[in-house]
Amino acid sequence: MGVLSVLLMPLGPWQGELSTPVLVAVGTFAFIVVSVVVNVLSQLLFKDKAKPPMVFHYFPFFGSTVVYGMDPYAFFEANQKKHGDVFTFILLGKKITVCLGPQGNDFVFNGKLAEVSAEEAYTHLTTPVFGEGVVYDCPNHRLMEQKKFMKFGLTIETFKTYVPLIVDQVEDYIKKSKYFKGGKGTVPLTEIIPEITIFTASRSLQGKEVRDALDGSFAALYHDLDLGFNPMNFMFPWFPFPGNKRRDAAQRKMARFYMDIIQRRRKDPNSAAKEQDMLWNLMDRSYKDGTPISDKEVAHMMIALLMAGQHTSMATTTWTLLHLAEQPHIVADLYKEQQEVCGLEPRPLAYDDLAKMPLLNNVIREVLRMHPPIHSIMRKVKAPMTVKDKGYVIPPGYHVLAAPGASAMDEKYFKNPKEFDPHRWDAVEDEDSGETFDFGFGLISKGTASPYLPFGAGRHRCIGEQFANVQLGSIIATFTREFEFALPGDGKVPPPDYTSMITLPTPPASVMWKRRNP
Ligand code: HEM
Repeated sequence: MGVLSVLLMPLGPWQGELSTPVLVAVGTFAFIVVSVVVNVLSQLLFKDKAKPPMVFHYFPFFGSTVVYGMDPYAFFEANQKKHGDVFTFILLGKKITVCLGPQGNDFVFNGKLAEVSAEEAYTHLTTPVFGEGVVYDCPNHRLMEQKKFMKFGLTIETFKTYVPLIVDQVEDYIKKSKYFKGGKGTVPLTEIIPEITIFTASRSLQGKEVRDALDGSFAALYHDLDLGFNPMNFMFPWFPFPGNKRRDAAQRKMARFYMDIIQRRRKDPNSAAKEQDMLWNLMDRSYKDGTPISDKEVAHMMIALLMAGQHTSMATTTWTLLHLAEQPHIVADLYKEQQEVCGLEPRPLAYDDLAKMPLLNNVIREVLRMHPPIHSIMRKVKAPMTVKDKGYVIPPGYHVLAAPGASAMDEKYFKNPKEFDPHRWDAVEDEDSGETFDFGFGLISKGTASPYLPFGAGRHRCIGEQFANVQLGSIIATFTREFEFALPGDGKVPPPDYTSMITLPTPPASVMWKRRNP
C-alpha cells in the first residue's frame, strides 16, 4: 500500500468519487500536515540533551532556511538569546550547528583535520567554478602547499609594483566612465565597483594579458562563470540549473585561456614584459613529493584567486565608499592624511605610503568589522565534536558554522557596535601579533578566539589579506584624492542584501561625488 493511499484512508468511501488530480492534491496536503505534526511533536517530545538545542521549526527539510537566508545575523542574535552561543538549525535538510562568540570562532576555525572538513562543505560549489585538482578538490595537505605557492607571489616586492598599476586603472576608469562627467554627479556603486575591482586585480595580480582580455571575450566568460557562484549551488549541487551549463563551458574556456598564456610565456619568456604577477609565480612549480603542478592546475588556481578576491574586495570597497559618503568629514581627514604623506599637491601614491596612513587602514578595518563579506563559514563534521563547557556532542554529518561578523557587532566586544568609527582602532595593536603557527603555508597568528576575524583563522585562513589591503587602500586613496562624497536621499547607508554569497549593500548603493579640482 502506497503512502498516498494511507494518507487518503480518512476519506473512506468518498475516495472513489474524486478525480486523480484532486486526490493527489488532498494527499499532498495531508502529507504536509502529517509531516509538520510529526516534526513538531518530535521536537517537543524527544529533546536530546547531549546535542546542541534545535531551533524550533514547523517544516521538516526547509527548517529555518527562509529566516536564516533573509537576515543571518538577526537569526543568530534571536537564537543566541534563546539558546546561548551554540545551537542547531535546519538549512534545506542539513543540520547546521552555529557556534557564536570568540569561543565559537575558535571551535570552528581551529577544528582538527580529523574532525572537520572545509573541502566537504564547499567542494560542490567551488570545484565546478575553479576546476579540478585545486583548493577543495584535493587533499588538504595539497591545498596547504598551493596556498604556500600563492603566498610566494604576494610579497612586498610585488606589492610595490602593483600600487601604481592599480592607481592607473582607477584613474583610467574614472576618466572613461559615463558616471564621472563634469564637476559633480551621482554614481551607482554596485555597478562600477565590480568593474574597478576586477580591472585592478587583473592588471596587477592576474597579469597584463588577463586585463587586456577583460575588454573583450574574458568579461563574458567571467560573467558566466560567476553565475555558478550562487547559494543555490551550495545547497543543490545536483540540480541542473540552466546557468550551470554556461558555467561549465566558461570554466573550460577560461582555463584554456590561462593555459595558452602559460604556453606563450614559456616560448618567449620576455614577450609578456616580465612583470611580477601571480601567473609567473605559479608556473613550473612542484609539490613536496616531486609531482609537478600541471598547467591546468595553475589555470585553476588563477581562477580560484580571481573569484576569491573579486567578491570580497568588491563588497569591501563598496561598503567603504558608502560609509565615507555617510561621514564626509572622514573623507576630508583621509585627504589631509594623504597630503601629509605625499605632499600638498600629492605625488603619485607608492606602496610605502600606505603603511604611513593609519586612518586609511583603520577605515578598512572598521568596514571589515561591520561588513565582513562572508557571513557564514562552514565545515562538515567528520568525527564527534565536544563543545567543552556545554557538554554537547555534535555528531558526524552535521555542519558547524562560525560567524565572526556576529561577534564583531556584539556590544560585549565593541562599544556602540552599530556606529562606523574608524578611530576605535587607533590604540589597537595589529591582531596578528602574538603566538604564531605554520599549517604549511607560512606563519599565521594562532589566536583564533577573537571576536574580530574577517579573514578567518587556522588552516583555511585567507592568504589574500595583504593584497586586499593594497588593492583597497590604493582604490580608496585614489577616490579620496579625486572627490568629496555625500549620500543622496535620507543620507543613510543602504541595508545589506543577503541573497548572494557575499554580503553586499542593496543596489544601486549610490553616492554623490564632487570633484576636488573641477
Ligand atoms: C580564505 C576573507 C580577499 C584568497 C578566506 C577566508 C575568509 C576570507 C574569511 C576563510 C574561509 C574559510 O575559513 O572557510 C577575505 C576577505 C577579503 C579576502 C574579507 C578581502 C577583503 C582575498 C583575496 C584573495 C583571497 C584578494 C586572493 C588574492 C583566499 C584564499 C583562501 C581565503 C586562497 C583560502 C581558502 C582555504 O584555505 O580554504 N578569505 N578574503 N582572499 N581567501 Fe580570502
